[in-house]
Amino acid sequence: MAATAQLDCGQCGYLCLEYAEAIAGGAETDLKRCAPGGRATARMLKELLAEAAAAPAAAAVATPAAATAPLPTPSTGGRAGAVTASLLSCARLNGAGSAKDTRGVVFRIEGTGLNYKVGDSLGVHAHNCPELVDALVACLGGSAGLEVDCPDGARRTLREALISVCDVARPSDEAIEVLASRAHDPEEADLLQAIAEGYPGSGPEDADLLDLLIAFPSARPPIQELVSALGVLQPRLYSIASSPKATRDEVHLTVAAVRYQRRDRLRKGVASIFLAERAPPGMPVPVFVQPAHGFRLPDDGDAPIVMIGPGTGIAPFRAFLQERRALGAKGRNWLFFGEQHGATDFLYRDELEAYARDGLLTRFDTAFSRDQADKIYVQHRMRQSAAELWAWLQDGARVYVCGDATRMARDVDSALVHIIAKQGRMEMAGAKAYMAQLAREQRYQRDVY
Ligand SMILES: Cc1cc2nc3c(=O)[nH]c(=O)nc-3n(C[C@H](O)[C@H](O)[C@H](O)COP(=O)(O)OP(=O)(O)OC[C@H]3O[C@@H](n4cnc5c(N)ncnc54)[C@H](O)[C@@H]3O)c2cc1C
Ligand SMILES: NC(=O)c1ccc[n+]([C@@H]2O[C@H](COP(=O)([O-])OP(=O)(O)OC[C@H]3O[C@@H](n4cnc5c(N)ncnc54)[C@H](OP(=O)(O)O)[C@@H]3O)[C@@H](O)[C@H]2O)c1
Repeated sequence: MAATAQLDCGQCGYLCLEYAEAIAGGAETDLKRCAPGGRATARMLKELLAEAAAAPAAAAVATPAAATAPLPTPSTGGRAGAVTASLLSCARLNGAGSAKDTRGVVFRIEGTGLNYKVGDSLGVHAHNCPELVDALVACLGGSAGLEVDCPDGARRTLREALISVCDVARPSDEAIEVLASRAHDPEEADLLQAIAEGYPGSGPEDADLLDLLIAFPSARPPIQELVSALGVLQPRLYSIASSPKATRDEVHLTVAAVRYQRRDRLRKGVASIFLAERAPPGMPVPVFVQPAHGFRLPDDGDAPIVMIGPGTGIAPFRAFLQERRALGAKGRNWLFFGEQHGATDFLYRDELEAYARDGLLTRFDTAFSRDQADKIYVQHRMRQSAAELWAWLQDGARVYVCGDATRMARDVDSALVHIIAKQGRMEMAGAKAYMAQLAREQRYQRDVY
């Protein structure tokens, strides 16, 4: 459990503890399912299993209980039930001149049998970029039409396999070992082996398969051997931004297009750019619902809620508001939204401002980080309204946070502790215990990635 990212994001098909238990009990052998933990988690798990195997006495204590326990069913195993939805639209939500490219994606799900609740995420199976795949085929010296056996058991052309089945963005350690074993240059072979074994600084940072083929020109393994060693392209999850009560037959998403420059090459996120640049309206796309764990509206429609969702973190809160409107829920709703610029990045502005005008949003605070010299983030707005936020908590409010895990969610968490300590006149330890109690009562829920 300690080796996983502990975000309960569901990308592996389990919750973190269930994934850890499935590995420890032997029911799960794939150690690379933790997407946010990445390579570091996979390596730590591999080391732990090796240690357990080498320590028979300790293993004897741990194994029987785990082995006789019922196999943990992936509680979030929605990916097995993927259906084909039709992409209706993928409109840019930012205005001209924005540095961001966030898309309002709409899928038509009529007739698919797909059901979802607000708080759930949608899993999207995307394809790799064909231009990237063409560059890979050229580098490998292969023919695009060559038939290969894919890691999923089917036989396809090399081009088709690399586009729709293989993970070429994050080559597996096994694939890097194949490159190492086939490199003619001994120095390249040693470096590749060091990368596969996780020695920092041994190769290009965060290398994709093309980076490795460019950096190590003597490593040209037989194509079938490489394809068999590559991991399978995983679906990406997106928080659903609509309520089924408001947008029947549709699922809406809020997707940030991932583009960045690295080693003189424009990198494009697999799924976000598939949606933003390559999938035409009407295209059938395999999708599934990933049910939320601990990210739900309260059953009590009168309960007040506080929603903190900068950037794409707004997605589930648009759904929550649509749901509360459709249900006629009377509870108070407070939304904190943040983005870079008010003029160009105010996602769903018309809709949210209308909710603020008609009272569905009791309070609506925005933080546009780059509209002034000093950064203003959602947690600054929370601190400015600390007394009122404390009063809402005293009234039983639930607090929800959605969006970036590494920076925003951590800083918002810390701001909440400080607000509670100051307003509740507590020591920091007391404030942390108060937060822990909120979480136990399902009154502090997060959907962060
Ligand atoms: C439960 C859950 C809900 C989510 N909801 C949403 C949502 O509502 N909206 C949304 O947009 N995303 C959401 N995500 C994230 C989403 O699943 C994808 O991870 C995201 O879209 C990137 O996927 P991709 O295939 O486009 O990019 P990938 O091909 O997976 O590439 C992403 C990787 O690129 C690297 N990277 C990205 N930017 C940079 C940079 N500037 N510099 C260097 N490296 C960089 C990072 O290593 C990152 O991991 C959610 C994730 C989870 C787990
Ligand atoms: N790997 C990376 O380098 C990287 C970088 C950005 C985003 N991302 C990821 O890209 C996805 C989409 O991002 P997004 O479009 O939803 O927007 P986002 O990048 O989360 O930004 C939304 C708003 O949050 C602000 N913000 C930045 N740091 C913050 C903090 N510590 N506390 C509070 N607010 C903060 C941003 O301000 P400023 O932009 O002005 O700082 C912006 O105004 C997320 O998954 C995120 O994790 C990755």
